[in-house]
Amino acid sequence: MSENLKATLNIDGSIVELPVVVGSENEKGIDISTLRSKTGYVTVDPSFMNTAACYSKITFIDGEKGILRYRGIPIEDLVKLESFTQVAFLLLHGNLPTPQQRVQFSRLLNLNSMLHEDMRHFFDHLPRGAHPMHILSTMINAPAIFYPNVDLLSINEDIDLSSARLISTIRTMAAFAYKKNIGEPVVYPRHDLPYCANFLNMMFDSPVAPYEIKPEIVRILNILFILHADHEQNCSTTTVRTIGSAQVNLYATISAGISALSGPLHGGANQAVVEMLKQILADGGNVKKYVELAKDKNNPFRLMGFGHRVYKTYDPRAKIIREECHKLLAHMDIHDPLLDVARELEEYALTDPYFKERNLYPNVDFYTGIVYRALGIPENMFTVMFALARLPGWIAHWKEMIGGTTKIVRPRQIYIGQTPADRA
Ligand code: ACO
Repeated sequence: MSENLKATLNIDGSIVELPVVVGSENEKGIDISTLRSKTGYVTVDPSFMNTAACYSKITFIDGEKGILRYRGIPIEDLVKLESFTQVAFLLLHGNLPTPQQRVQFSRLLNLNSMLHEDMRHFFDHLPRGAHPMHILSTMINAPAIFYPNVDLLSINEDIDLSSARLISTIRTMAAFAYKKNIGEPVVYPRHDLPYCANFLNMMFDSPVAPYEIKPEIVRILNILFILHADHEQNCSTTTVRTIGSAQVNLYATISAGISALSGPLHGGANQAVVEMLKQILADGGNVKKYVELAKDKNNPFRLMGFGHRVYKTYDPRAKIIREECHKLLAHMDIHDPLLDVARELEEYALTDPYFKERNLYPNVDFYTGIVYRALGIPENMFTVMFALARLPGWIAHWKEMIGGTTKIVRPRQIYIGQTPADRA
């Protein structure tokens, strides 16, 4: 908080002084927490377009400059790390793991990679063809039944174990959800495989065709997971913090985060992008037509994978994924016509005045789906992949929130409904 800066508000001739807070990257905010008690007024900010809901030490974004850092480290450096689990540790603990901490963390993940066997049977009774994202948000709640002591009171002692159990088992659940969806037997996790390789093996190994783990595929999956691992107060993270503030157990809280992520305006956009690119391709590849549709205010169509609440320039994650996508497809000798459509669409939209004036650029989801397609991951798993990657971020925010002085989240409203006088 800055001692010197104050904001002055004049309400009907009454002057109110409000403290100004300054973040470590010089972001400034007006602290209005005493406004109502001093004046009887509240602030109005639907969709929190202009509200900092908390203080956080986890992630910094500069949406104008296209900067994203976790715990002060730029994502451009983090993607050079060997494993997503190093970044998960960084988010949870504030520092990259030492070699010894890395070994301990991997051990903890391995020890907790299996689902309780009784829980595995839940999958047998889910309808064939159920969407894996729905299966995941349902199943992630179940450990609260098997490990009922994971509540707020015990969490301080159990947080490392609970985090590891969640980060490890979500991967097993995700792969089981996929196997259930396609009607194949599940594949158990293996202690000899690192995080991403283990996940790929659970997804694609089968009794009739062993899966060959390719280093370039493992590498790009680590990059994608690292880039999705946190993004400060986005919709799902805000959901996690809001629900967590009611002292709901960690599993139910994360389940709510997964549900928030599933929406097409949030994490569900990666699936929606590929569906859109397919539609454009099937319609003759006329990108101009779809850009015009997206601009038409009478048409609900939007360019999926374009635009962002915070980034008003190219999403730094999208920049890395676009480059990695080109490299991967070239390396694997894949020609995906959707990549051609995506490139053309991007080129055309970025020169269009509508998109330029509104600062609409490709976001993280624009190229992600094309990479997942190259890895053999089906479209209905795209948002599940996002959830796996975002989990350490959600837990880090939950941990930060319960470790702070947060009260239950409870916004106010301005009532605009009928009054008794209207009814008289
Ligand atoms: N296509 C066409 N027009 C768009 C798009 C788009 N993708 N995105 C925004 N706009 C327009 C809006 O119509 C609005 O125009 P107006 O000022 O003439 O009314 C203006 O740009 C501002 O858009 P808002 O919707 O007010 O911006 P907001 O910050 O609320 O929304 C969002 C951000 C939801 C990401 C939006 O850009 C969108 O719907 N994009 C497509 C979905 C998508 O890709 N979501 C993934 C986001 S990344 C993530 O969650 C991981």
